[in-house]
Amino acid sequence: MSKRNIILIGFMGTGKTVTGRVLAERTGMELVDMDSIIEERAGKPISEIFATDGEPAFREMERALAHELSQREGLIISTGGGVVLNPDNVADFQQNGLVVCLTASPATIFQRLGNDTTRPLLSGDKKEQISGILQTRQPLYDAIEHQIDGDRLDPAGRADAILRLYNLET
Ligand code: S3P
Repeated sequence: MSKRNIILIGFMGTGKTVTGRVLAERTGMELVDMDSIIEERAGKPISEIFATDGEPAFREMERALAHELSQREGLIISTGGGVVLNPDNVADFQQNGLVVCLTASPATIFQRLGNDTTRPLLSGDKKEQISGILQTRQPLYDAIEHQIDGDRLDPAGRADAILRLYNLET
């Protein structure tokens, strides 16, 4: 029997990676982090991909990887925050997976990412950039059927909520 993937979507700093780790521990499923795979394959960090190749090149790599991973099964997939920008990514993931969106308030996100230096989209005034990008992307995140409130739930609570959905739907 095929085992569906679990796909974690959400803005930067909503806890996709940490929640993915808890899910992987609980289920024994393999955790894959899209940004890490892209960095490995490109041989450079995301910030350098953006700086030297440009964001469109990064989005192409992200698109190809989303398609590739959606052909596999039994994975916990931690995506990059911008994966929702291309609706084909979400459509592919939905073919064989439970797609969930983690949410957090701008204040929480700022608290988590205030000192971050690795995210090319947050290289200026972080508060302004976070609220600006969030605003334009909000409809895309809201369109994901399953929403997990990352402000109210800690990583274990988020994993519980996701596994309840997963077991209901599998
Ligand atoms: C991005 C989010 C990042 C990374 C890249 C672009 C975005 O991933 O893919 O910097 O467009 O929101 P995280 O969500 O893991 O920070």
